[in-house]
Amino acid sequence: MKRLPILVLLWLAISCSVKQPETISDMTGQPDKKWWKEAIVYQIYPRSFQDSDGNGVGDLEGIISRLDYIKSLGVTAVWLNPIYASPNDDNGYDISDYRAIMPEFGTMQDFDRMLEEMHKRDIKLVMDMVVNHSSDEHAWFKQSRSSRTSPYRDYYHWWPAEKGKPNYRYSLFDEKGDAWKYDSLTNAYYLHYFSQKQPDLNWENPKVRQEVYDIMKFWAEKGVDGFRLDAFQFAAKDTTFPAFPKGFEKNFVQYYAMQGNLHQYLQEMNEEVFSKYDVMSVAEGAGRNFEDAHKLVDEDRNELNMAYAFDGVDIAKREGYSLTHFKTVFSKWDSAFAENGWLSIFLSNHDQARLVNRYGNDAPEFRAPSTKMLNTFILSMRGTPYVYYGDELGMTNIGFDSISQYQDIAAINGYKKVLHEGGDVNAYLKDLKFASRDNGRTPMQWDASQHAGFTNGNPWLPVNQNYKQVNVAAKDKDPNSVLNHFRKMTQVRQENPVLVYGDYKLLLPDHKQVYAYTRTLGDQKMLVLLNFSSEKADIELPAAVKVDDVVINNLSTAEHKSTRFSLSPYQAVIYSLK
Ligand code: NOJ
Repeated sequence: MKRLPILVLLWLAISCSVKQPETISDMTGQPDKKWWKEAIVYQIYPRSFQDSDGNGVGDLEGIISRLDYIKSLGVTAVWLNPIYASPNDDNGYDISDYRAIMPEFGTMQDFDRMLEEMHKRDIKLVMDMVVNHSSDEHAWFKQSRSSRTSPYRDYYHWWPAEKGKPNYRYSLFDEKGDAWKYDSLTNAYYLHYFSQKQPDLNWENPKVRQEVYDIMKFWAEKGVDGFRLDAFQFAAKDTTFPAFPKGFEKNFVQYYAMQGNLHQYLQEMNEEVFSKYDVMSVAEGAGRNFEDAHKLVDEDRNELNMAYAFDGVDIAKREGYSLTHFKTVFSKWDSAFAENGWLSIFLSNHDQARLVNRYGNDAPEFRAPSTKMLNTFILSMRGTPYVYYGDELGMTNIGFDSISQYQDIAAINGYKKVLHEGGDVNAYLKDLKFASRDNGRTPMQWDASQHAGFTNGNPWLPVNQNYKQVNVAAKDKDPNSVLNHFRKMTQVRQENPVLVYGDYKLLLPDHKQVYAYTRTLGDQKMLVLLNFSSEKADIELPAAVKVDDVVINNLSTAEHKSTRFSLSPYQAVIYSLK
C-alpha cells in the first residue's frame, strides 16, 4: 500500500478529532439524515380544529378524534399552537401556567392520551413555547408587580417612574403602539412588546432562564418531540433601554432581534434541554440576515435545528406580488443554506390569512389548481415543510367587513391605533379583510353539517360559508380533490429523498409566470414546473434537461415536446429526469 504523506495524516487526524460543522451531505456525498429534516409538519390551531364538548372551542379530545385523518395526510409531525392555561388575550400566547392545560382545551390526562395516540401512529408532537413573555396573570408577574422588593421583581423589565419616562419602545399589539405600561402600584413602567397582558420576561435574569429550562424539561420528560420558540429572537434586551432613532418601529426587527446575549441563552438552552432529549428545535424568526440565521442553526453552534425565516411569507400583499421576486427570495435562502444549516419551508400559519388567497387564486375555477400548485411547491423544496391546517383542502379567507366581527387582538387594537392616530380606517379595514389573522383561524371544515362538523355549539369564530363544498368528507372521496393531491404529494416526498435532501437549482429565473427548478441527489433528479399564473405558459428549458416520467401532476394532462413545455393555468408537474 502506498504510504500517505505525513501532512495528509496530520490533517486526517485533526479533521477526525474536531467536530465538523453540519453539512447537507458528508464527504461521501451522503446526506446528513435527521428525522426533523424528513418531517412534514402539520400545524394545528387547537381553538379551531375540532370541538368535542360543544362549547364552540376546539380541544384536545377533538384532536385525538381526528388523528387518523391527520395520519392519512402523510404528515409526520404536528406543531400545536399553545395549549397551556391562559386568559386568552392573544389566544394562548399569553400563558398563566406553563405546566397546566387550558381548561377549555381539556386536562393533562387528555394531553397524555393525545401524545400517546400520536406516537402510536408515528406522529411527532412539537409544542409552542412562549417565553419571550408570559401572561400578566402568571404568578410570577403578580408577584413581580406587587412590590419593588419582590424576589420576582427582576423576572420582568421594570422602569422606575422617578427616572422619567423610559425611551420609546414599539409594541406590536398595543392600541397606542407603546410597549411601556405605567403601573401605579409601584410607580413604574413594565415592558410589553406585544399586548399589555403579555409582559416581557427578563432573560438577563438567570433565574428566569432556569425556570424556562425546567418547564421545557417537564414537557420533554412527557415525551414531546420538539419545541417552537415563539418570538424568541426578541428575548434578549439591552436593559439600559437606550434611545432608538425616530421611526425605528417601521423596521423594528432590526432593533429588537438578536440582541445582547441571545446566542448564549440558546446555547445554554441547548445544553440544558435540547442536548438531553431527542427533540427538534425551531425559533420563530431567523434574525435580521443570513448571518444571524446561520448563527442560530449551524450545527457547530449548538443552538437550534432549523431557521423559520419570514422573508418568504412576507412577500404576498393585497395588490399581489411578483413571481420573480418570490423566486429570488426562496433561491437566495436555499443557496445561503446549501452547505450548512437547515430551513423551514412555509407560506402560511396562524399569523397569516389563507394560503390560496395570498399566493394563489381563490376564484372558483382556480382555487383548487392553485392550492395544489402551492402545496406542490411547499412539499418539493429543500427544507422542512410546514403545512397549516385547512390548506390541504384549500380553505379560503372569510373576509370580514366590520371590525365587530374580528376576535384577534392584533386586528382590534390595530383598529383602535388607526383611530387614535386619525388614520384611514377604511383603508385599514380593507387591508384587514385580506390579511387578518382571523382569516386563517376559522374552524376546520370537516363536513357539510351545521358549523362544518366543527362543533355542536356556537363556534368561537364563524365557519367560512363555502364549507358545504369545501370540506373533508366531500373531498375525501374525490380522487382529484385538493385533499387527495396533497396526500399524493406527501407520499411523493416521503418516497423520494431527493425532494428532502437534493440540491436545488433554479431554471428560468426571469420568467414571470413559471417557477421551474431541479432537485438532484446522486443520480436521482427531478424537475418541478409550477405555473403561478391564471394564463397558459409556454417555456423552453435547456437541452440538458431530459424528462423521463411524470411523478405527479395537478391536472390530467402534461404537454411537452422535447424541451418545450406548455403549462395550463396553475399547473404543477414534477418529472423525473434521465
Ligand atoms: C408570534 C405568534 O406566532 C403570534 O401568534 C403571537 O401573537 C405573538 N408571537 C405573540 O406571542
